[in-house]
Amino acid sequence: MNAAKLMEALINLSEEKTENTVDTCKAGDPNRELQKVALCCTATPDLIRKAHAWGADLLITHEPTYHDHYDHLFDDDPIAKEKKALIESTGMTIYRYHDHAHSNMPDSIAMGELEELGWEQERYDGRFGLTLSQPKTAKQLAKEIEEKLGIAHVKMVGNLDFPVNKICFCVGAWDMLHKMKTSDADLFISGELSEWQACEYIRDSVELGHQKALLVLGHIASEKAGMKYVEKLIRKINPDLETKYFDCPEIFSYNR
Ligand SMILES: [Fe+2]
Ligand SMILES: [Fe+2]
Repeated sequence: MNAAKLMEALINLSEEKTENTVDTCKAGDPNRELQKVALCCTATPDLIRKAHAWGADLLITHEPTYHDHYDHLFDDDPIAKEKKALIESTGMTIYRYHDHAHSNMPDSIAMGELEELGWEQERYDGRFGLTLSQPKTAKQLAKEIEEKLGIAHVKMVGNLDFPVNKICFCVGAWDMLHKMKTSDADLFISGELSEWQACEYIRDSVELGHQKALLVLGHIASEKAGMKYVEKLIRKINPDLETKYFDCPEIFSYNR
């Protein structure tokens, strides 16, 4: 099986197809025959070197490689040029798998996170709606998420001591302000958001007497287990392929 055929099979798992999808070949030969497939959430230079040292023919990343949603390479970007040269020196094929991972029903990235959290038995609508069987406070949930996902610090906003079970579960970065305006969830879980909009919306809601809370996990922290789930999808598509998920450390450090 070659890289393009594997990606076609992954994309075809989703009934909903994205126009102008970013799920395309970013580097190397799309027709390369595969033995070893590496997966990651974001392809950092260190991770690219590790995947290459393992002998990966294909690296599948969830996030963009060049800090632009469509991976446009800009002439005035010295770091992107260095990164491109590094990738070319490995000869690896790189594809992105993003749109159709999220448009799977249920969302494969969210499913990976729910499995890692041990919440796969909870009521999940396949998109953003998650209902816990046992109400817990935002503070308790933050602690549980830190422990189970290995996150150093989950940021908390709003009413943290009120038991909640109706959650708007948004891995990665979505328009959280819009979600907050239109969802009746008590707790919003986000990977990354606009602090001056979404965090302040929750603060305002609470100061106006509403029971609302928000947990911010960090973008990669909120999605990386999703790519471990994608590894399982690939094994089902072609059990003869050797697969390996490559992790990268959290982006933020803390002085404590
Ligand atoms: Fe995502
Ligand atoms: Fe993302």
